[in-house]
Amino acid sequence: MANHATDQASLRSEATPEREAPELAPEEPEPEEPEPEEPELDPEVAARRAAALAHVRKFGDPVLRTRARPVARFDDALRDEVTRMGELMTDALGVGLAATQVGVLNRVLVYRVQEQARVAALINPEIEWVGDEQEIMEEGCLSLPAVHVDVERPIHVRVRAANEYGEPIMIEASGLEARVIQHEVDHLDGVLILERISRQQRKEAMRVLRDAQPGP
Ligand code: NI
Repeated sequence: MANHATDQASLRSEATPEREAPELAPEEPEPEEPEPEEPELDPEVAARRAAALAHVRKFGDPVLRTRARPVARFDDALRDEVTRMGELMTDALGVGLAATQVGVLNRVLVYRVQEQARVAALINPEIEWVGDEQEIMEEGCLSLPAVHVDVERPIHVRVRAANEYGEPIMIEASGLEARVIQHEVDHLDGVLILERISRQQRKEAMRVLRDAQPGP
């Protein structure tokens, strides 16, 4: 989410109010087009984002429904994969990315919920505890273009994982960070946000996906 976004660019709950009105380009009337969901991106940023998104598997690809395997070897190949995923996520303006989304069935995820932070990598993450408190927030997904849905999830989680060197780490996360981790762990289990919403919302999301599909 970079500018927001769960794995994508889309967790929008983070909207920073002070930045509500960046210098907008002069309004061009676009009577036919529906209001664009996201603010216009700088063309270079948009091009980089499109190039990154081309590497991300999209809805319909069976790999997104496949459970990833635990990582057994913490070697340079794994670290290269983590680096590449971090770059793709950053270029795609996402806040998280799971290996399954780039067609790699390893239990690896990367995320960054604060722009200045370094990209965090979790290998073989296990959510070992979730709090009782839940909240609903809008999520998007780099694999589900244009879909934004309200997902209810626990606010607090505790996660055990390894870093890319195989060292054990434990993370207690809340709010957006907890949400992103849960979203990405879902990906590693072959679960998409479409499974986390009501039937009604899912119908609507499927319509958006169909409309976003390039024609034959
Ligand atoms: Ni996603």
